[in-house]
Amino acid sequence: MNRPANHQPIRNLDTDWDRWPVLDYLAENYREIHPSDAAVIRHHSAFYRQFAPGSAGRSLEFGAGPNLYPLMLAAAASRCVDAVEFSRANVAYLTGQLHDGPDESWQAFYALCRELNTALPATLPEALSRVRVTHGDVRTLPLRSYDLASMNFVAESVTEDMEEFAEFCRTFIGTVRPGGHLVAAFMENMPTYRIGNAPPWPGCPVDGSAIREAFTPHTERLVITRVDSDPTLPDYGDTGMVLLTAVRRSGAP
Ligand SMILES: C[S@@+](CC[C@H](N)C(=O)[O-])C[C@H]1O[C@@H](n2cnc3c(N)ncnc32)[C@H](O)[C@@H]1O
Repeated sequence: MNRPANHQPIRNLDTDWDRWPVLDYLAENYREIHPSDAAVIRHHSAFYRQFAPGSAGRSLEFGAGPNLYPLMLAAAASRCVDAVEFSRANVAYLTGQLHDGPDESWQAFYALCRELNTALPATLPEALSRVRVTHGDVRTLPLRSYDLASMNFVAESVTEDMEEFAEFCRTFIGTVRPGGHLVAAFMENMPTYRIGNAPPWPGCPVDGSAIREAFTPHTERLVITRVDSDPTLPDYGDTGMVLLTAVRRSGAP
């Protein structure tokens, strides 16, 4: 999206996240398995397969949104998954999914997750029974309190400010204990974006190098890969996705 030369970057708290267009977002991204979702699910499943079932006491989904597949994936390793989300609209959707049962469209996602990780429980409701939804700003989470944290399309999709992007990455890393495990997906080079006809949402275009720069000082065993842009998704101006796994360094602040 073109901006005037004097445009001030929109920061996270400049945006009213409660207005997040849940149903349009789901319709555009998650009502069917797009090839890029399948790529993320394959990547994250390989990450979760390294853990014995239930070996992570507490896991975090950082900025969960209304996306259930990261929560399903985490159930293979985690006894308890905290889905932390700032938007009341997304919290209401997630709470409804846990309380009333997931939308039918999530079953195909669960079938794929389970095919890729047989440690997952037999049913989707069983997997989701480990999830606890919390309304809040991820930046107020206590440090070093999780064994494992997952972040999908958050740090680069909630601000236009590159320094704030890096702060979100540091916060994400800081939520896990030293030695704790991290898995993440980012939109690659995505500028400020639109969902449906609503006003734009703040995004900042990052690539593998910017992500490496943000994670290298605080992590080890950092592995970054990418997937090409998905023509079956709306054109958000991105060039694909960047996927990451890492472990928080012992000496990291
Ligand atoms: C692009 S969406 C990604 C949602 C989801 N993780 C997914 O995989 O589709 C970005 C999400 O971050 C949430 N968010 C924005 N600022 C936040 C903050 N400070 N703390 C927690 N969540 C936040 C938004 O409400 C939105 O759900």
